[in-house]
Amino acid sequence: MRAGGLVAFPTETVYGLGTDASSAAAVARLYAAKGRPADHPVIVHFADAARAFEWAREIPQTAKKLAARFWPGPLTLILKRSARAQNFVTGGQDSVGLRVPSHPVARQLLREFGDGVAAPSANLHGRVSPTAAAHVREDLEKRIDLVLEGGSSEVGIESTIVDLSGAAPVLLRPGAISKFQMEEILGEKILDKNSTSPRHSGGLERHYAPKTPALLVPAHALDAEIARRGNAVAVLAFSRPDERVESWIRMPREPRAYAQRLYAALRELDGARCGAILIETPPETAEWDAIRDRLSRATG
Ligand code: TXA
Ligand code: MG
Repeated sequence: MRAGGLVAFPTETVYGLGTDASSAAAVARLYAAKGRPADHPVIVHFADAARAFEWAREIPQTAKKLAARFWPGPLTLILKRSARAQNFVTGGQDSVGLRVPSHPVARQLLREFGDGVAAPSANLHGRVSPTAAAHVREDLEKRIDLVLEGGSSEVGIESTIVDLSGAAPVLLRPGAISKFQMEEILGEKILDKNSTSPRHSGGLERHYAPKTPALLVPAHALDAEIARRGNAVAVLAFSRPDERVESWIRMPREPRAYAQRLYAALRELDGARCGAILIETPPETAEWDAIRDRLSRATG
C-alpha cells in the first residue's frame, strides 16, 4: 500500500479493498479496479480513533461518545473533513467517512501502515459485498495486487454510517450497530436520512445486487410464486426447502446470523443461473432494519 498497491483485507463487516488514502494515484487505481465512479466518497480506515480524528476538523461530543463506545467496530462516522482528507477520498464533499474496524488482520495492517487507508467494499461496483477472500478473488483477482485471508466476516453486512457533520445526527446506512444503541449512548434522537443527505453510492437504488433478478416475496405467497414461475427459481427463505426447487438456501430466523450469511447466500444463488431469486420477506421489526435495507437494494 505504501507503493500504491491495492490490498484486499478482511474486516468484521465485509472485505475492503485498501490503498493509501493520501495518494491520489492509488485511489484512482482503486476506483478503476472496482469500476466505481470517481465522484463517490470512500471510507477511510484507521488503527485507532486518535489517528482517525486527525482527518476531521471538528470532533463533536457525539463523535467522541460513539467512538469511545463502538470503535473498534462496525461503525462509520461522517465528520467535517480536515486538510488530510482530500477531494479524491471525499468525492469533493466537505465531509469524510472514518472507520476503525475490529478485525485483527485489519487492525494489524492499519497499525503497520500507520495512516488512513481508503477502503470501499472489495467487490465490483454495484455487486454484492464480499464476506470471504474467495468472493474478492471472484470479482477482482486480476485487477488487484494482494488479498489478505481472514476467514468469513463475522457481521456480514457493511458498517452502520451516521452523519455527524450537520446540526443533528443522521443515519445514512443501517447496520449491526443500531440507531437505538447509538441513541442510548448519545441521549438524543438520530434522524433517518432524507433527500437532503449527502450523496453516497450505498444510497443508490439497485446496489449490493446479484446479477440474477431478485424479488421479495411474503411467506404466504412463496409457494404460488414458485409454481407460477415453473420452478426455474432459486430461493432464500426461512422455511424448509421445497423439493421442486434445486437451489434453496434456508436462512436463520435470528437477524445477526442471517446478516452473517446473506451475501455468501446471494452469491451462491446467483451462481445457480436461475431466472430469478425469490427472497422471503423478513420481519418488519427494527432488529431487521439493516437486512431489509440490503434486501430492498438487492431487489432493486
Ligand atoms: O463496512 C464497511 O463500511 C465496508 C468495510 C470495507 O469497511 N466499507 C464499505 O465501503 O462499505 P463502500 O465504499 O462500499 O461504502 C461506503 C459508503 C458509500 O455509500 C459511500 O458513498 C459512503 O459510505 N460515504 C463515504 N464517505 C462519505 C461521506 N463523506 N458522506 C456521505 N457518505 C459517505
Ligand atoms: Mg460497497
